[in-house]
Amino acid sequence: MVLMGNAHEIPDPVRGIGSLTYQNGFGNQFGTQVLEGALPEGRNSPQRCGYGLYAEQFSGTAFTAPRHASRRSWLYRIRPAAVHGEFRRIDDGALTSRFDADPSPNQLRWSPLPIPSAPTDFVSGLRTAGGNGSPDQQTGCGIHWYVANRSMVDRYFYDADGELLIVPQLGRLRLATELGLIDIEPQQIAIIPRGLRFRVELHDAEARGYVCENFGAPFRLPDLGPIGSNGLANPRDFQTPVAWYEERTGDFELVAKFMGHCWSARTDHSPLDVVAWHGNHAPYRYDLRRFNALGSISYDHPDPSIFLVLQSISDTPGVDNVDFVIFPPRWLVAQDTFRPPWFHRNVASEFMGLIAGSYDAKAEGFIPGGASLHNCMSGHGPDAATFEKASRADTSRPQHVTDTMAFMFETRTVIRPTRFALELPQLQQNYAQCWQGLSSHFTPGTR
Ligand SMILES: [Fe+2]
Repeated sequence: MVLMGNAHEIPDPVRGIGSLTYQNGFGNQFGTQVLEGALPEGRNSPQRCGYGLYAEQFSGTAFTAPRHASRRSWLYRIRPAAVHGEFRRIDDGALTSRFDADPSPNQLRWSPLPIPSAPTDFVSGLRTAGGNGSPDQQTGCGIHWYVANRSMVDRYFYDADGELLIVPQLGRLRLATELGLIDIEPQQIAIIPRGLRFRVELHDAEARGYVCENFGAPFRLPDLGPIGSNGLANPRDFQTPVAWYEERTGDFELVAKFMGHCWSARTDHSPLDVVAWHGNHAPYRYDLRRFNALGSISYDHPDPSIFLVLQSISDTPGVDNVDFVIFPPRWLVAQDTFRPPWFHRNVASEFMGLIAGSYDAKAEGFIPGGASLHNCMSGHGPDAATFEKASRADTSRPQHVTDTMAFMFETRTVIRPTRFALELPQLQQNYAQCWQGLSSHFTPGTR
């Protein structure tokens, strides 16, 4: 199906919220054009494209990837992506792929980063919390916060190092990308494919959130196994934009993140000039409130993998490079069961953030915009206050967990924090105290 795109004028960040058009489905073969006939019929690269456009392929997987994993799109644009000035290194700021601090087994937690007072856009507001692997090896991920107070003006960005999973916590964003416009608000996420050029505009005065920069295989929906053919994040709820373009000339900057560093090139035109495209490699958004949360209706509760939204698989079956997991509102009905997340130690490493409300394993200290890091085999779980309350709760009655949306970036290898993150005043020095009140209740003479 070919969908006609929106008008191509420069978007007004305030006007038109909620008015954008999307194509539904995860990884579909989409086709979309702003101008009738801009999308060639029956071929990808005709000798001359309609309207004088250039054809360009945008590959997200190896040419030879298995068909079910292959991702690519064909773009029909005013100028090829190759047209720009020379890239030169610029200051990386707090954005890095060098995870240079020695990781420790200590549990870490941060309060939210403040919104800067100086003019700061999405790119200059990226601050790296930590990560693992490297863009060079195409494995692992970078974990960043973003804080911003202005839209990107006359500049564009792409990340050759990884796919970007953007998780807003404060403020609504418009992502103007080569393949179309996406609006997201807190409790929605967006995925920007590796290398896709885009600009971020703020719908509100301030914006803050989290970014997982996935160096590995593109995110995909997990298999469902015995769950069946429905449940968790349903494919039809993922939304990809329709084609949109702007024809702007002037003096603009194109910022690239390449091999862990920032590069800048001048360009005399907007790179967001794709008039039509087709394929299955494209940005998309998803509303976390659509997640179909499943859980126990008898006793115990399943491993948190039951809350898996998206996964980046690794070379080892069943062991993911990075998982995106959420803890949404849900009913707890398991009887004679300790209902909060249990105490545990994990071979994987867990970076958590809170988008809204509170998290049911912590009574205080973990607040929206904050983050925690529990690395490989570091014990964690509910704090003492939560344990006391939950171990006395009446489990004959259902409990509705509301006003919450937490998430986790879970990785197979240790998440190494940056020095920047370890030196932040927002790093809570007393986090581990939350477990110290868990005293012994052991009474050998009494069951
Ligand atoms: Fe955990």
